Amino acid sequence: MFALFGKNLEKAVLEALSGVMDPDLHKDIVSLGFIQNLKTEGGEVGFDLVLTTPACPVKEDLKAQCTQRVQALSGVKSVAIELKSAPRRSPLAEQAAETLRDVRSIIAVSSCKGGVGKSTVAANLAVSLARSGAAVGLLDADIYGPSQPTLFGLAEKKPWVEDQRFVPLEGCGVRMMSAGYLFPPGEAAVLRGPMVSNVLQQILLKTRWGGLDYLVLDMPPGTGDIQITVCQALRLTGAVIVSTPQKISLLDVGKGIAMFDKVKVPILGIVENMSEFICDGCDKHHAIFGPSGVPRLAEIYGIPVLGRIPFSPRIVTESDRGRPPAFADGTPEGAAYRELATAVVRAAAKATASEADLPVVDIAW
Ligand SMILES: Nc1ncnc2c1ncn2[C@@H]1O[C@H](COP(=O)(O)OP(=O)(O)O)[C@@H](O)[C@H]1O
Ligand SMILES: [Mg+2]
Repeated sequence: MFALFGKNLEKAVLEALSGVMDPDLHKDIVSLGFIQNLKTEGGEVGFDLVLTTPACPVKEDLKAQCTQRVQALSGVKSVAIELKSAPRRSPLAEQAAETLRDVRSIIAVSSCKGGVGKSTVAANLAVSLARSGAAVGLLDADIYGPSQPTLFGLAEKKPWVEDQRFVPLEGCGVRMMSAGYLFPPGEAAVLRGPMVSNVLQQILLKTRWGGLDYLVLDMPPGTGDIQITVCQALRLTGAVIVSTPQKISLLDVGKGIAMFDKVKVPILGIVENMSEFICDGCDKHHAIFGPSGVPRLAEIYGIPVLGRIPFSPRIVTESDRGRPPAFADGTPEGAAYRELATAVVRAAAKATASEADLPVVDIAW
């Protein structure tokens, strides 16, 4: 028998491999698109076997079958197979991509603990971005503790429904939609699994954002299932982690970083909230809390500090009245949020630029 080479060898290899079936998907691995980067030069055959999950229980068996079949072909001197995995995008992710196709950057504001000012930072970051001339949306994904309707003074309103989609409400130049409009905060605490995922799907898929430069997400606190689902469903530009100087814990921040790493979301940086005290009367900064743990933590994890928002009673009173402090001119609070927004814009641009260099195939994690 003649030794095969060139295109003929390539064809023969693919034909041989099409006899290998994926036992779960009941299809052959060639038509499933698992064979990639096939090379056959000089009879040295090499290709990637790209599976849907790194945890594929039969990966070694599939590899062995491939090796055996290819080795049996005439003209083959060696076979090198590299196992890779490219997780399929979930149907939720596919639909979310469609809903958000005109959104340029999605920034998740996250915290490892509740009560650190995550929602206040998210609201004022969104307002500062909008004031700089960007088209901005704010999605309140904190199903158990939605607070954006209150922070924008829109708690009594409801979003319009048009063609079975929510039209976000507008506040301080920001388009805002909240899980709180689907389920009132008081009742959400009793929501269980299927209802939570229903609310999550509606909020991710049923809002008509239109064209946006930035969509800011007010994420639920912590690193649970909802957070992971949101991160996997949306193509996030990056995450901003909010922490107070006192409540900061290496362990909690480490958990947050590990979660974003796992779902491949870059961390843009950390925001120190409620840092120095600004008293209402004198507008001076007072370092009454002692040294902050945030800079050290940022150093340990190699992430930048994006901003420091002072502890200010005015932030509480204005927020309670539904007037985001970033909307005011000439206040130290407004200036701090604007500085934060500038740092976030830069970090997001950097993250987007480095994303373009990423390889197409998603390697196993
Ligand atoms: N920089 C700040 N100075 C003073 N109070 C703040 C500051 N940031 C947030 N707060 C207050 O802290 C409380 C919790 O903030 P919130 O944004 O709801 O936190 P989270 O979303 O993390 O639970 C609110 O009463 C809010 O007004
Ligand atoms: Mg909140």
